[in-house]
Amino acid sequence: MTPHFKAQKVVDNIYWVGAIDWKLRDFHGYETQRGTTYNAYLIISDKIALIDTVKAAYKQELIQRISSVIDPQKIDYIISNHAETDHSGSLIDMIKLIKPEKVFATAKGVEALKAHYHHDEEITAVGEGDDLKLGSITLKFFETRMLHWPDSMVTYVPERELLFSQDAFGLHLATNERFEEDVPQWIVDFEAAKYYANILMPYSTLIPKTLDKLSTLPIKIFANDHGPIWRKNIGRIIELYKKWSAQPYTMKAVITYRTMWGSTEKMAMAIAEGLSEGGVSVKMMPLNSTHRSDIVTEVLDAGAFFVGSPTLNKNMFPAVADLLYYIKGLAPKNLIGDAFGSYGWADGVVEEIRGILSGMKVELVNDSPMSAKYVPDEKVLQDCFEMGKKTAKMLAAKISG
Ligand code: FEO
Repeated sequence: MTPHFKAQKVVDNIYWVGAIDWKLRDFHGYETQRGTTYNAYLIISDKIALIDTVKAAYKQELIQRISSVIDPQKIDYIISNHAETDHSGSLIDMIKLIKPEKVFATAKGVEALKAHYHHDEEITAVGEGDDLKLGSITLKFFETRMLHWPDSMVTYVPERELLFSQDAFGLHLATNERFEEDVPQWIVDFEAAKYYANILMPYSTLIPKTLDKLSTLPIKIFANDHGPIWRKNIGRIIELYKKWSAQPYTMKAVITYRTMWGSTEKMAMAIAEGLSEGGVSVKMMPLNSTHRSDIVTEVLDAGAFFVGSPTLNKNMFPAVADLLYYIKGLAPKNLIGDAFGSYGWADGVVEEIRGILSGMKVELVNDSPMSAKYVPDEKVLQDCFEMGKKTAKMLAAKISG
């Protein structure tokens, strides 16, 4: 077989042998408009190791890329950094094909792989700081629980100052460029922020601890599990992770809403004008044309968040409920905000949304719900405008401390 899928060298002894998924558009509810990659790596020393595998459907691509360097059956060890199926989907088939001497994962990884594949293969648990000598190359394992799953770990190569960082520092971006510096920065930064917001945001309190732990290691390369590898700009992504995990208050507001006959939209516009007059940058994201995962991405660096919904059959509009249930799971921090909307004969939806926002620890701007019967009159629109202005003052006070 002459493989047309080739390995790509990362540094001496280390090759990228992953798969490019050009057509992925949904990653459990997150719109991946630029596809993704499932990165796997081959390390060639006296012993040969494979770091992670790929989603099941891409197994042949993985095998061909490995085969462009060595016979896959020469692999001695497989390291499973993360049990999620985008990385372990072909693991059991690869074990059967390669018959490696050992397969390693964390203790939680051993459990998770068993619970996924109900297999009979032997997988050895490694723990924090354990070493595996391949010859001139050493692998050192560090647990990163909940980044992204309880089983997660990263694998460090001291001789190359390279970290196989698994989901951390990843981005969903299908590209044949293997290094981040070869992709336009605005695309990298947008997709890295979107990835952080939609995958890692719930674990933001763990990120600074992980960054502190990693800061004790000399690292020149983040060989991640999705998207291009960080090499020239690892300082930039570390700073972005510090900022995204802290989510400080900013003079930026996200307003999102659905409207039926334009009433809720009029209220959204009035709030935006008030925010604008107070010096807040407004991102208006109507739910009829905006995906939930893009709204969450904008919320990541916002200081205010407003949600508008008309009342439909005594309930909030379905798209609003979808967004709220998605975003509350992602647990954004440090937000001021409120709800608004119109109703015909059954008021209550705005208060219900305020309850959800409060449950997310969003600090409410108003004491009472901003709702309008059928169509907002001048007074309601003025109140919306004032709510925007008041938010701007509250944000400025938070930022000035
Ligand atoms: Fe890329 Fe948590 O899997």
